[in-house]
Amino acid sequence: MPADLYAVIVLAAGQGRRMKSKLPKVMHRLAGMPLVGHVLTAAVELAPKNTVVVVGVGKEVTEGYLSDAWPNVHVVEQKEQRGTGHAVKQALSALGKLGEPPSNASVLVVSGDTPLITPAALNELLQTLQSQQAKAALLTAEVEDPTGYGRILRGESGRAVTGIIEEVDTTDSERAIREINGGVYAFNLASLKAALEKVGSQNAAGEEYLTQTVALIASAGEVVVACRMSDADLVAGINDRTQLADVGAKLNSWITAAWMKKGVTFVDPTSTWVEATVQIEADSVIWPNTYLSGATVIAEGSVIGPDVTLSNTTVGVGARVERSSVKDSKIGAGASVGPYAHIRPGTVIDTSVHIGSFVEIKNSSLGVGAKVPHLTYVGDADIGEGTNIGASSVFVNYDGVNKHRTSIGKHVRVGSDTMLVAPVKIGDGAYTAAGSVITEDVPPGAMAVARERQRNIEGWVKRKRGGTEAARAAEEAED
Ligand code: UD1
Ligand code: CA
Repeated sequence: MPADLYAVIVLAAGQGRRMKSKLPKVMHRLAGMPLVGHVLTAAVELAPKNTVVVVGVGKEVTEGYLSDAWPNVHVVEQKEQRGTGHAVKQALSALGKLGEPPSNASVLVVSGDTPLITPAALNELLQTLQSQQAKAALLTAEVEDPTGYGRILRGESGRAVTGIIEEVDTTDSERAIREINGGVYAFNLASLKAALEKVGSQNAAGEEYLTQTVALIASAGEVVVACRMSDADLVAGINDRTQLADVGAKLNSWITAAWMKKGVTFVDPTSTWVEATVQIEADSVIWPNTYLSGATVIAEGSVIGPDVTLSNTTVGVGARVERSSVKDSKIGAGASVGPYAHIRPGTVIDTSVHIGSFVEIKNSSLGVGAKVPHLTYVGDADIGEGTNIGASSVFVNYDGVNKHRTSIGKHVRVGSDTMLVAPVKIGDGAYTAAGSVITEDVPPGAMAVARERQRNIEGWVKRKRGGTEAARAAEEAED
């Protein structure tokens, strides 16, 4: 049964100095989503009555994201970053304006820089708080290298949590403690409020630490419990770019492992990056150096990669994409794309289409079985089923000011090196001669020839280039 949760407070106001970034730390992305988005994704699973995000440094950026992606979240500003305890105070005073909380209300406080937290871990924490009638519960983990984290202090018996000591404030012996504070807490609201009143800033950082509330609650004789996670990754915090990369790799390994469980093959999961929003059906094979992002959906039995980037792209059953980049487009069942194709937004490739090497396509549709095999630019065009576009053709869509469309019927044969100067239409079953510059519509079934006739100037090489290898070869050929 889900526990009753009055509010989740996400702390996202800090600058993240150690990131050395203009972007607020919580807005750095992993798997296509800002860190704070990952935290919120886990938190809302617990169905809190209220969700508050405390913003501060870079608040325009964070607020902009939150209002788009999380419209039901209350955004509260912490004007000066005076510490995590001070940040929670801002959230509580905003919550106070929403009306009287139920007596015995529980709140969760989660750092916005802890993106691997799961709903299950949050739920366990909340259940522990409520079932043990504790006033505070915190997620902890035993780690090899506790550097940078607050350390958990336990009493004489080594059992009851008595407080948290921040690294900058530790003695040598405290620094050796390997049980760390995960920055994820459940509190009884009234106890949290009372403790925050007493939090001071007499510490090495001169900040109001949220962590001090734990000692305050414990020393008042109330129950404080630690939920020690066996998987320390769940509470991995991100303070710098190395941690961002490490946590990103961990998250990616979880995402790819989940797809492997569902029947997707990854030849090398460590070099394949899959955003959390992507969907992949069974029996697809993903080759190395592939990046799948946004609303990409890959149907059963597709083969993607190596070296492919797909962004917001739908791939049909059994399609093949190799060494190519595809964005905001659709690839039909059984189609093949690449190697070395660049498919730009608005392209719809139907069933069994073949797109070959060094082909760029933008905002175009290609009918069933159409082929664009080599060295071609297709822009703003509709190409009918069974049509073949000869090598080195260009859809001349831009007159220098405006873009125009080209319409090509079904079973057309566009000769190699045809320039199709838009707007222009080619009827069903028509042909164009290689090297043509098509500026006028071509009726169905016609052969359009739009180039100079060839003339041969006999004996030119002998007369103009006498004594060269070419002239000698020509003479030999005459004999
Ligand atoms: C904090 C904890 C530490 C814990 C670690 C877990 C404190 C004092 N320390 O340290 O015990 O091991 O997290 O990851 O809480 N923030 C604000 N306003 C502020 C300061 C911070 O909103 O004034 C936000 C930050 O944006 C961040 C979170 O609070 O999302 C934690 O702050 P951070 O500076 O990363 O704390 P740590 O030093 O990692
Ligand atoms: Ca942190």
